Amino acid sequence: MNKSAVIVDKRDAKRELELLKNEQMYDDSRRIMVHGGESIELPILGPGEKMKNKIIINQKNPQRRIRGLKDLLQERGVSEEEIKNAPQSWDIIGKIALVQFSEKCTIEKEIGECLIELHGIKTVLSRAGIEGPQREPTVKCVAGVEETRTTHTEWGAKYSLDLSEVMFSPGNRGERKRMGRMADRRECVLDMFAGIGYFSIPMSISGAEVTAVEKNAVAMRYLRENIRLNHIGGNLHPIRKDCRKFVKEWTDKEGKLFDRIVMGHYDSIEFLKEACSVVKAGGMIHLHEIRANANPSQSYDKIRTIAVETGRVAEIVSHRMVKGYSPGTSHFVADIRII
Ligand SMILES: C[S@@+](CC[C@H](N)C(=O)[O-])C[C@H]1O[C@@H](n2cnc3c(N)ncnc32)[C@H](O)[C@@H]1O
Repeated sequence: MNKSAVIVDKRDAKRELELLKNEQMYDDSRRIMVHGGESIELPILGPGEKMKNKIIINQKNPQRRIRGLKDLLQERGVSEEEIKNAPQSWDIIGKIALVQFSEKCTIEKEIGECLIELHGIKTVLSRAGIEGPQREPTVKCVAGVEETRTTHTEWGAKYSLDLSEVMFSPGNRGERKRMGRMADRRECVLDMFAGIGYFSIPMSISGAEVTAVEKNAVAMRYLRENIRLNHIGGNLHPIRKDCRKFVKEWTDKEGKLFDRIVMGHYDSIEFLKEACSVVKAGGMIHLHEIRANANPSQSYDKIRTIAVETGRVAEIVSHRMVKGYSPGTSHFVADIRII
């Protein structure tokens, strides 16, 4: 291996690195190393004419720069065929990587070990699927500490969860941020499918008065834990109930109408009638759905018709793609003003 490097003062490192890159002398296959207290070693492709006024050394302990999973696997002698079957992406949730392995992959453990090295995490879980209307995940530990519980931090909110018991979708990160920013301290919000507090936590951190309805006992346990973890005061009200039943009881006792309703479930259109009956005039509903990329407004007529059936008018203000779902379809959220 080529071991040549130039020694430069730490303070000049950025400029020297740019110069080496411009002169096409920088060797980015090796790591930049510290050299004594004030200097660093910038790896170069070789001594040569362009380097003649520089201090050149042969590095004592050159280290290869690892760029990604593929490099690490190559370094461990994994065959190109196996590398081809390795995953291209994975989710990092707290100290855990959640990976969807292809059926052809036979080196899950090696890949898991590389991901632990790459991300400084503790555990790698293989995702087998998410099942049932309550969206319960099935996972298997392939490397690291046998642990499925973790705490994920995002946009200032903390989520404690067990990935073998409840789902967490990193692809919804942008939407969690948007909901947190959109909610305002004067608002009353209803989260009809609260889960562990994906949207309820950031919205209540923003100061909104949030009623978080969730029917699954396990998700509710984590929601309550996350309320404590985020030191949320009395403005987040967890209610373990089917949201349809909640709305019926709320309407019967003439509870106040909501300024904003979050419907974070792929089948939420089936519950739109209930949402329309408890939203204020001028209030907003955020309805999540899987739709064809080619026709994201495919359910707009249905949305308008449901609103009319409940004596309301639905104005679709905007929609945004949250994340890809399957080839040709994506997870979308529609912002609907109800008059
Ligand atoms: C898809 S998860 C929540 C996803 C979440 N919004 C996110 O960003 O990842 C849906 C949640 O709705 C809950 N749920 C499903 N049907 C429900 C219902 N009828 N009433 C209340 N909660 C329900 C499930 O238990 C689950 O925790």
